[in-house]
Amino acid sequence: MTLLEISGLEVRYGRNVAVKSVDLTVADRQIVTVLGANGAGKSSLLRAIQGVVPARAGTIRFDGRDITTSDVPSRVRSGLVLVPEGRQIFVSLTVQDNLLMGAYTRHDADVTRDVEAIYTRFPNLAMRRDKLAGVLSGGEQQMLAIGRALLAKPRLMMLDEPSLGLSPLFVQRMFDLIGDLNRDGLAILLVEQNTSMALQIAERATLLELGSVLISGPSAEVGRSEMLTQAYLGAH
Ligand SMILES: Nc1ncnc2c1ncn2[C@@H]1O[C@H](COP(=O)(O)OP(=O)(O)OP(=O)(O)O)[C@@H](O)[C@H]1O
Ligand SMILES: [Mg+2]
Repeated sequence: MTLLEISGLEVRYGRNVAVKSVDLTVADRQIVTVLGANGAGKSSLLRAIQGVVPARAGTIRFDGRDITTSDVPSRVRSGLVLVPEGRQIFVSLTVQDNLLMGAYTRHDADVTRDVEAIYTRFPNLAMRRDKLAGVLSGGEQQMLAIGRALLAKPRLMMLDEPSLGLSPLFVQRMFDLIGDLNRDGLAILLVEQNTSMALQIAERATLLELGSVLISGPSAEVGRSEMLTQAYLGAH
C-alpha cells in the first residue's frame, strides 16, 4: 500500500527553485532513500513534505489524504514526522523535556508509558534523563532527536542526514537502529551522504540534482548507475 505519494512537487525560496517537479512514493513499511550532492534539494524536499516550507506546485498525499496545504501539527498527528538536519534538539532543556516535546500533538494518556519505552530502547538517554540535552554527545543527541520523533507515534519517519558528524561506531548503530525501527513497522524516508550504506538499507532510491530527479528505482539499480557518481561530481 502506498503511504506517501508526491507528484510534481516544487519548492522555491524567492526566485530560487530548490525542488522541481519531483515525484516520489513511499510504501507502507518501506525504506526509501533520497540522495544527491550538497544543495541538490534533499532537505527542502523533506521540509516540504513535513509542511515546514510550502509546496509551490504539486501534491502531497499521505495515507490516502491530500495534505498539500495541511499545517505541520496535523501532518504530525497523521503520522508523518521529520528528524531535521542538525537534529535541532533543545540544548537548554533536559533530555526528558526534549522527549516530551515530541508528544506535543498528542492528547492521550499513554505518553508517560511511551517515554519509558524510549528509555528502554536508548539506555544512554535513560541515564541522563534529567541532564541538559546540550551535554549529550553527537550520537546521543541524534538518538534523542529520533526518540523525540518516535513519541509522535509516526507511521513514516523522515531522517535528514542522521549519520552526519557521527563516529564510525555510531554511524553503524544509526543504521542498525533504522533497520530495527523499520522491522517494527515504520516506513522511512532517508536522506544520507553515506551513499553506500543508504543504498544497502533502502529498497528504493531517488537521486536529485539541482532539485530534479535524475534517476529513481530499486537501490541496486541506482547504485549501479553512472549518474550516481556524476551527480556527486556535478558533471551534468
Ligand atoms: N532557507 C533558504 N533560503 C534560501 N535558499 C535556500 C534555503 N534553504 C535552502 N536553500 C537553497 O535551496 C537549494 C537546496 O538546498 P537544500 O538545503 O534543500 O539542499 P540539500 O540537498 O539538503 O543540501 P545539503 O546536502 O548541503 O544538506 C540550495 O540552492 C540552497 O542554497
Ligand atoms: Mg540538506
